[in-house]
Amino acid sequence: MSAQNARAATAIVLLAAGKGTRMRSTRPKVLHEIAGQPMLHFAMRAAMTLAPQRIAVVVGQDAEAVALSARSLVPEVEIFLQREQLGTGHAVRMAEGTLSDFDGQLIVLFGDTPFLSAATMAKLIETPEAITVLGFQTDSPGRYGRLVMDGEALLRITEAKDATPDELQIKTCNSGVMAGPAKTIFRLLSQLTSENAQGEYYLTDLPALARAEGVFTRAVFCDIAETLGINDRIDLAAAEAAFQTRARAQAMAAGATLIAPETVHFSWDTVLGQDVVIEPNVIFGPGVEIADDVTIRAFTHLAETRIAPGVSVGPFARLRGGTEIAEGAYIGNFVEMKKADFGPGAKASHLTYVGDAEVGAEANLGAGTITCNYDGVSKHRTQIGARAFIGTNTALVAPVKIGEDAYTATGSVVTKDVPPGDLAIARGRQENKPGLARKLRQRLLGLKAAKE
Ligand code: UD1
Ligand code: CA
Repeated sequence: MSAQNARAATAIVLLAAGKGTRMRSTRPKVLHEIAGQPMLHFAMRAAMTLAPQRIAVVVGQDAEAVALSARSLVPEVEIFLQREQLGTGHAVRMAEGTLSDFDGQLIVLFGDTPFLSAATMAKLIETPEAITVLGFQTDSPGRYGRLVMDGEALLRITEAKDATPDELQIKTCNSGVMAGPAKTIFRLLSQLTSENAQGEYYLTDLPALARAEGVFTRAVFCDIAETLGINDRIDLAAAEAAFQTRARAQAMAAGATLIAPETVHFSWDTVLGQDVVIEPNVIFGPGVEIADDVTIRAFTHLAETRIAPGVSVGPFARLRGGTEIAEGAYIGNFVEMKKADFGPGAKASHLTYVGDAEVGAEANLGAGTITCNYDGVSKHRTQIGARAFIGTNTALVAPVKIGEDAYTATGSVVTKDVPPGDLAIARGRQENKPGLARKLRQRLLGLKAAKE
């Protein structure tokens, strides 16, 4: 959080104490994930775009889990506990003790509203002396609070449950986001009452209280896509779909070919280079970075993996757990890699598991190469030198080192290091028994006849 900021000083209070009853989950609502990231982190990242001096999260339900998650993203986040969920206005007051004399803008965000853009965040603090509410237009305003406007001025916000039939017709709605001078907001919050349909202290009563004191109240607007609030699993799926639609469009706009975009699922942090081709049904978990001119073939699953230029992966490959693929490498079908460092031009064309391993440049792993990295207690490393050739169906029992230019014979179980340039044969020797197959068959046929 940089203090170097041309704008007014800002403090963010993110509300995340609610039960999220409609999720029907043992997990707190704000920790449900969109594109592999908890919705709380989406909201916190939106907050961070203003480089705030202070950032606070109000927790209540599953307070510890929510606080832990918030701290994992922003270690200096301030946590306030709201023991009883008495409403959004009450929730903001939990931060009163340390923020009521903050000399700057206070911005209230909701943990269940993940998609606010940086541009919208900036609009909120354009008029620092005013109370600013973020609104949006919709043809189905449903349960949203309604903004009662008089031209530019915001007269009040009416919750759907308290609205008159006329007010319910209003299609200008409250996103929940509110900004204004911290001192004004906390002064007004102390005047809230819970005399309303839900018996709660509504943050939304603030604009009317502000006007009564002669404080200017206004609304700024954004697209409904940004203010999408998540209350149940249907909303969660809609948020996921909205995220994916945007991510696909961005990927294509930036120069990636998606052959069937609607079947590709991105993570919130996927990075793609130019002229990347992604075939149908590819899934990106968190932490994937793909350089230029890479082809990801159908049904591949990637997570925590970096891929250098000119690589081809899949179909049906799974790369994960801190894997690095160097330039020009080739990874074919039914290959899994975990924590693998796969060298330039190296190949694993089919049916291979590479875990906790280093593979040198131009090495070739035959079909069925398996690094046996786990002994049931610990993980061990396999090192394969440059240009090594691992014969088909080799089991590499780690820890083990295969030297540069070495060979392992097909079907070997390699338990000892192989020096550079050597050939390791570690399998039973073949013996041919003349005529024995024919004799065996005769005997078996005889046994069968005796039984019948
Ligand atoms: C709220 C707004 C409504 C707006 C809608 C937009 C109020 C009174 N209403 O309604 O005008 O259209 O958001 O999505 O503000 N929370 C707490 N403590 C509480 C209550 C809520 O931390 O005591 C948190 C929740 O965890 C959630 C957020 O505040 O993150 C919003 O609460 P929620 O109950 O979902 O408000 P809505 O009924 O959706
Ligand atoms: Ca809500």
